[in-house]
Amino acid sequence: MLNFEFKNPTKIIFGKGEIEKIGREIPTGAKVMMLYGGGSIKTNGVYDQVIHALKAFEVVEFAGIPANPEYEVLMQALKVIKEEKITYMLAVGGGSVIDGVKFLSAAAVYQGEHPWDILTKSIRTEVGLPFGSVLTLPATGSEMNSGAVITRAETQEKLAMGGPGLFPEFSILDPEVVKSIPKRQLVNGVTDAFTHVLEQYMTYPAGAHLQDRFSESIMQTLIEVGPKVIENPADYEAAANFMWSCTMALNGLIQKGVPTDWAVHAMGHELTALFGIDHARTLAIIAPSHYRYNFEAKKEKLAQYGQRVWGIHEGTVEQIATVAIAKTEDFFHSMEIKTTLGEYTDDYEGTAEKISKRFTERGWLGLGEHKTLSPSDVEKIVAMSY
Ligand code: NZQ
Ligand code: ZN
Repeated sequence: MLNFEFKNPTKIIFGKGEIEKIGREIPTGAKVMMLYGGGSIKTNGVYDQVIHALKAFEVVEFAGIPANPEYEVLMQALKVIKEEKITYMLAVGGGSVIDGVKFLSAAAVYQGEHPWDILTKSIRTEVGLPFGSVLTLPATGSEMNSGAVITRAETQEKLAMGGPGLFPEFSILDPEVVKSIPKRQLVNGVTDAFTHVLEQYMTYPAGAHLQDRFSESIMQTLIEVGPKVIENPADYEAAANFMWSCTMALNGLIQKGVPTDWAVHAMGHELTALFGIDHARTLAIIAPSHYRYNFEAKKEKLAQYGQRVWGIHEGTVEQIATVAIAKTEDFFHSMEIKTTLGEYTDDYEGTAEKISKRFTERGWLGLGEHKTLSPSDVEKIVAMSY
């Protein structure tokens, strides 16, 4: 097991009806900006619950943070934060709204001229403007981690940022919000969370037995409850287990003491930036090719995953590892997720070269758990995903 430090300061308040507790978590006298997306919270009752819970506070609303939170929109919110002297933010939404609020938390205290530099220059935020969240869509884990991914349409970029100051102070996880989530987003949630576990698990054996078992149990739970929640989002037990699995998949716990990969996300983000494909679907496009391309380096963990998660016990390490990749693809297909780029766009020629060139320009010369996956490897993996 590798050395590690672990601190996760986010307070989780989990369960039915818990949104009403928001007021207790925000400092008395705070001037609160409540930020949300395109309006789903207005039709599913979440908006009313939040407004009721915030009745003791002065509240400024900012609506319209789009999926793949857009820099230009966030800059409008930043202006309001400064003009209104906001002291606390509340994100009410999925990963996009929470990520957008993390950017604002960093940008509100940033001294430089262009907040976009926070993303391009990897500026870590030690202390940001404080915020909490009400999660409405289980998927990203953003509600309990300190990372964010921001999109800039103007330059077709989608870049990550973070820092210890960007954990939500609290997050409310009420599984009842799952009832109103459309099937497409539920499927995305299962796929994204599942791939988060893969990115932190599918490397090489590191003697971290507990972390491996945590990862395997999250994947097994997603395989069990994913189809149930997609079939019936009002199934509270399935929704609750789905929600907690997504949070646990990316709150830092399973990555402690183990090598991590994250190359699937790096490549996937480019597909969202270039084609607007939903984040989770870009992962399903890249992951199978990534594991086939890096088969030799990853085959032991692939085989362990095949045995423990998919119950494949017959065959050599190579054979089990090969079936495990196919099983992963089948799982995505079973949720009607397409796994090749050509099924999303006809305009894919040249994409591999373009992404490889971008990585070279950014100095991303060695990705993956061994920091050896070069832009030319990336080019081959993306081309295998057409
Ligand atoms: O905008 P509204 O109207 O609210 O609709 C949203 C949105 O259109 C809708 N929705 C959310 N909750 C709902 C609901 N509809 C009905 N009922 C509800 N209860 O769902 C749509 C998608 O929402 P979004 O927040 O974009 O989805 P998700 O949570 O999948 O977030 C994706 C974003 O997170 C980033 C992705 O790159 C992408 O930008 N990620 C963030 C990570 C992190 N911070 O750790 C890690 C991830 O790997 C990922 O990169
Ligand atoms: Zn993801």
